[in-house]
Amino acid sequence: MKKFAILAFFGLAILALATTATSENSKQESSEIIELPDPRIDGGISVENALKERRSIRSFTDEPLYLVEVSQLLWAAQGETDDAGHRSAPSAMATYPLEVYLLAGNVIGLPAGIYHYSPQDHNLIVIASGNRIPALFNTSSDRVDWREKAPAVFVITGVFERMNKIPGQDSSRFVYIEAGAAAENLLLEVVSLGLGSTYTAGFDENRTKEYLRLSEGETPIGILPVGRPA
Ligand SMILES: Cc1cc2nc3c(=O)[nH]c(=O)nc-3n(C[C@H](O)[C@H](O)[C@H](O)COP(=O)(O)O)c2cc1C
Repeated sequence: MKKFAILAFFGLAILALATTATSENSKQESSEIIELPDPRIDGGISVENALKERRSIRSFTDEPLYLVEVSQLLWAAQGETDDAGHRSAPSAMATYPLEVYLLAGNVIGLPAGIYHYSPQDHNLIVIASGNRIPALFNTSSDRVDWREKAPAVFVITGVFERMNKIPGQDSSRFVYIEAGAAAENLLLEVVSLGLGSTYTAGFDENRTKEYLRLSEGETPIGILPVGRPA
């Protein structure tokens, strides 16, 4: 309960301070950015404990997440961890072909919407407003996808042309390997925060591209819905 109250305070404080405007943003039409709380680099549980406890969780309560939690998860997936621009996950030849997006449905401190994460600035750029999570997964009339209930959904994409070409090698596999490393980082942070998630690769690729407004060379690779385990 105490942890909840602290998180609620952080969420509300950040909302009051966070929304600012920037004049340049080449990737998205919108120019709105949301500053994120600094990631914590201590506390939590041991890596061994997180490995032991990690399980695919597909059932969430109706409780919200907090901005401080989604911020921590974005940082775990792709955040910068030194002044040279290296990130939390390894990257082949440090080419960093991955992008991370967030669909927020029920996050205290963050309006429902679709966002692009900037590791350089540790902030979010607004792509679209409104909760698009149910619509992203609602692809069949005869069954409800468990992911529709997630308060937040993280999408890892790959920009394949960013990966250096090595003669005689299909370097696209490097991009997929990196996506796996980033996803596992996020999954272990999920455990450390007492949340639940599943790494999913079964999704409507075209709809995901459309919602995230991806350009031609960018492909969604993995989707991680996150919530409080039911
Ligand atoms: C590449 C990959 C794709 C996956 N895709 C899905 C998916 O589309 N839907 C889903 O519910 N689970 C998906 N999973 C989760 C697996 O079903 C799960 O990891 C497996 O059952 C083992 O259980 P555990 O994660 O609890 O150890 C995927 C896992 C991986 C590694």
